[in-house]
Amino acid sequence: MGTFKCFVGALIFTCLVTICSTSIENGGGNIVCYYHNTSYFPPSEVPYRLCTHVIYAFGSISNDTIVPEKPGDLAIYDVLVGFKKWNPKLKVLLSLQHGFPSVVTDTDTMKRFATNAIGFLRHYHFDGVDFDWEFPKLSQKSKFMQFIQIFRDMSSRDAKLRSADLLLISMALGNNKYQASTLYDYTILNKNIDFATIMAYDFHMYIPNVDNITGYNSALVAPKGESPYYSTSGLVKVYLALGLAPEKTLVGIPTYGRSYTLANAKQHGLHAPAVAKGDPGPVRRLRGVYTYTDSCAALKLGAVSVWDSTSGVPYLYKGKTWVSYANEKSVAEKVRWAVSKGLGGVGVWATHLDDLTGECPGPKLPLINAIHSAMKSTSNHEL
Ligand SMILES: *[C@@H]1O[C@H](CO)[C@@H](O)[C@H](O)[C@H]1NC(C)=O
Ligand SMILES: *[C@@H]1O[C@H](CO)[C@@H](O)[C@H](O)[C@H]1NC(C)=O
Ligand SMILES: *[C@@H]1O[C@H](CO)[C@@H](O)[C@H](O)[C@H]1NC(C)=O
Repeated sequence: MGTFKCFVGALIFTCLVTICSTSIENGGGNIVCYYHNTSYFPPSEVPYRLCTHVIYAFGSISNDTIVPEKPGDLAIYDVLVGFKKWNPKLKVLLSLQHGFPSVVTDTDTMKRFATNAIGFLRHYHFDGVDFDWEFPKLSQKSKFMQFIQIFRDMSSRDAKLRSADLLLISMALGNNKYQASTLYDYTILNKNIDFATIMAYDFHMYIPNVDNITGYNSALVAPKGESPYYSTSGLVKVYLALGLAPEKTLVGIPTYGRSYTLANAKQHGLHAPAVAKGDPGPVRRLRGVYTYTDSCAALKLGAVSVWDSTSGVPYLYKGKTWVSYANEKSVAEKVRWAVSKGLGGVGVWATHLDDLTGECPGPKLPLINAIHSAMKSTSNHEL
């Protein structure tokens, strides 16, 4: 991230110096925190000292430019980019999810969008953009890749004109081998983007007839009997084997869990029969999803937690409820794994699903704190 500058250095010596200083500052150790505003998590609570990058989800695409999703978003942009005053190394990006089909039509439209979008991002003092198109069709792949090149080229020109840092480009990549091997061109990504979060979660959730036994949302290592591709390590290895540059690869870490309703309260292990999504969690009342606040509340209410040392994740159960969730230990293991593989860092979905209420023991935002501590103690990145 930020390695671009060295390639524009005219002198080899300058270039080397830049590579060295860049690699110390940006070679791994990144903690990219996605955040979406909700009523229970105002932007002022985003942990700007624990994250190297904050990505606001989402902006909209309309009429060949970026527009705020809601008028109130402008106030949120202000809060998030305002954090750079207190943490000058922080980078703040805006994520885009919908509307790509209207952009990746012809090169004129792509260029027009890039010009407008760059203007929008600069106007609101963003440091970059996140392309989270879920997902292009096979027939849109080449246009999408062309769009990314155009966006990068026009950003480079914009940066030179302004004598400003290049806008960062990040991406969120799909969670299965099929998407990994068909949707992206890694030569183009490595050359034109700064980093990509592999969305290594949602490997299992209750789906009638399809996924109707309990399973892990985001195991580091697949449990016995499951394909390795349904795990964080297995999926990330697929991307690396396909050519995604390790230093641009971020391991996606979920802070939320997936809940199930067991067929039989007495069968509460992994791969036990399930008949529905879990009932709404005790605090956030979401069906099928537990925020970390919900998991901690459930544990206080007597749920039993089981640690799976093979897969590096816990689950909890109580009555007919079964939840695959993340805790401090599981997120720290993923960070250490990412560092041991020489990867760029981690991408966290999401800040607002960690615990802000004090329902969990320890500091506010225990999972993001655990990610930060694990990164600080294992990578040489200055955090
Ligand atoms: C954040 O979202 C909540 C819920 O939609 C809304 O009430 C609140 O106004 C938003 N906050 C800001 C700063 O826009
Ligand atoms: C789209 O942009 C053009 C040019 O700025 C403008 O004339 C037009 O009104 C816009 N349309 C919408 C729907 O915003
Ligand atoms: C799970 O799905 C399979 C395949 O459709 C079906 O045969 C089985 O009865 C289902 N089990 C439960 C507990 O719903």
